[in-house]
Amino acid sequence: MTRRSANWFGARGRAGMTARSWLRNQGHDDEVFDGRPVIGIATTWSELAPCNAHQQRIAESVKRGVWQAGGFPLEFPNMALGETLVRPTAMLYRNLLAMQAEETIRANPLDAVVLLSGCDKTTPGLLMAASSVDLPAIMLTGGPMLNGKHRGRDIGSGTAVWQAEADLVAGRITEQECHVIEGCMSRSAGHCMTMGTASTMACIVEALGMQLPYAASWPAVDARRSVAAQRTGRRIVQMVDEDLKPSDLLTPAAFRNAIRANAAIGGSTNAVVHLIAIAKRLGVELDVDDFDRYTRDVPTLVNLMPSGEHLMEDFCYAGGLPAVLTELGELIDGSTVTVTGRSMAENIAGAEVHDRAVITSAAEPFQAVGTGTAVLRGSLAPDGAVVKQSAASPRLLQHTGRALVFEDVDEYYAVCRDDDLDVDADTVLVVRNAGPRGYPGMPEVANVPVPKKLQEQGIDDVVRISDGRMSGTAYGTVVLHVCPEAAAGGPLALVRTGDPIRLDVPARRLDLDVPEDELQRRRAEWQPPPNPHPRGYPRLYHEHVLQADQGADLDFLVGGSGSYVPRDGH
Ligand code: FES
Ligand code: MG
Repeated sequence: MTRRSANWFGARGRAGMTARSWLRNQGHDDEVFDGRPVIGIATTWSELAPCNAHQQRIAESVKRGVWQAGGFPLEFPNMALGETLVRPTAMLYRNLLAMQAEETIRANPLDAVVLLSGCDKTTPGLLMAASSVDLPAIMLTGGPMLNGKHRGRDIGSGTAVWQAEADLVAGRITEQECHVIEGCMSRSAGHCMTMGTASTMACIVEALGMQLPYAASWPAVDARRSVAAQRTGRRIVQMVDEDLKPSDLLTPAAFRNAIRANAAIGGSTNAVVHLIAIAKRLGVELDVDDFDRYTRDVPTLVNLMPSGEHLMEDFCYAGGLPAVLTELGELIDGSTVTVTGRSMAENIAGAEVHDRAVITSAAEPFQAVGTGTAVLRGSLAPDGAVVKQSAASPRLLQHTGRALVFEDVDEYYAVCRDDDLDVDADTVLVVRNAGPRGYPGMPEVANVPVPKKLQEQGIDDVVRISDGRMSGTAYGTVVLHVCPEAAAGGPLALVRTGDPIRLDVPARRLDLDVPEDELQRRRAEWQPPPNPHPRGYPRLYHEHVLQADQGADLDFLVGGSGSYVPRDGH
């Protein structure tokens, strides 16, 4: 069998000599060009992406496995996106990472690729890339940090920050104590150890069958993660001969398993946008309504922060994702093929729950069936909106109130602490222009805090509606991802302060109660905002980004181009 890499290394004359000679400056002997599988190891580490900064160590273990199995590993860097430092939002650059990684994989003499991710956007970014090239691929997420520990208590990434800020404002702790908490929260390598987007996406990758069983939950510093890395390296070499590609693994059934797993773990709403984007790279039909359809019968089994009490380290010791999938029984399609070369059912056979406080049974679930992500439609969201029911207040799930409209989050933050803000418990806060095009990049700003005036009255939640996203660690009755977004001319752009808005989650409705002729009038007056970005990637993004219900990918990146490259540069 002639491998793809042989087109480079097996070539005669100048082309082959060029491909081989320069690579030998790294000390490789001739043997690496004998036709063995060439394995790319795609990293996303950087000292600017703290959650992925330990990846070089993982890559070394992967390489060891590749060598053991008779492959030739070549590591290459990709755009490292860290949630905590990148502005205006790492989400703006997910598609750039995907584009850069796709082109790098295709342009080089690779037969397969190992994808090393971690922080939120690096997982979907690399999976989108690999799906569009469709060479054999396996992922290994970087693992969570050890549990945060402060004064004998577990504290979670993100969650502890919100808490400390509130405690500081209320005078319960000092500035100095906040600094102590900082260090206690992030005390080892790894990504967020709450069930935020990184842990959610890690579990989803495992449920999709794209990483080895249990790989989502080994802590970043656990020796067993290094073992998993080594196994990943050995496995990808075999996958080359089996020609096991993303398009073989990422089937509609695999996506259904991922959607159900997400509901069972109480995962982040961000998974909706990422999974749709990945599916569209493969031509798999997946729409926002599927997230409602396939989760209605799924209970939430995992008791992790932010909705629960525990953290990823506990989840690992309690049995990890295989235990959850086993507990879901018939809801999971065990026939899907996975990177192990075996079915999902074979992968999870024998998995057990070791701690019922962390992973509950389906019979006595942590949260009842039907409390997952709901997809709403109506005159305010013709193309859909999502709400995480488990994070919302039950009393607000059916609610009508008058809109108080803010053009953007900055406008809201400027007044949200005012004592004379015109709000009451029934007010519906509308914060628009936080969508893909509007912000740009659809940041996690939709969960704006409850106005101070209401907080002082003991009101801890109001309905908030936005075209933005919400952090996987956040809470509240927040309607997210309203489509089309305001900046694209969705009805959200036409709402005015005082308009009645009707939210009915049980009926899956979100409506703006304004007569049609009035809306027509407002629409006629509405002008699309000009592209505020004169140049560079933000300009390209603004011109081509799709709406959230389409995965917020760039329109010209949907689909794939395969791995074939017709011409050489020499
Ligand atoms: Fe990177 Fe949470 S900030 S995973
Ligand atoms: Mg995040």
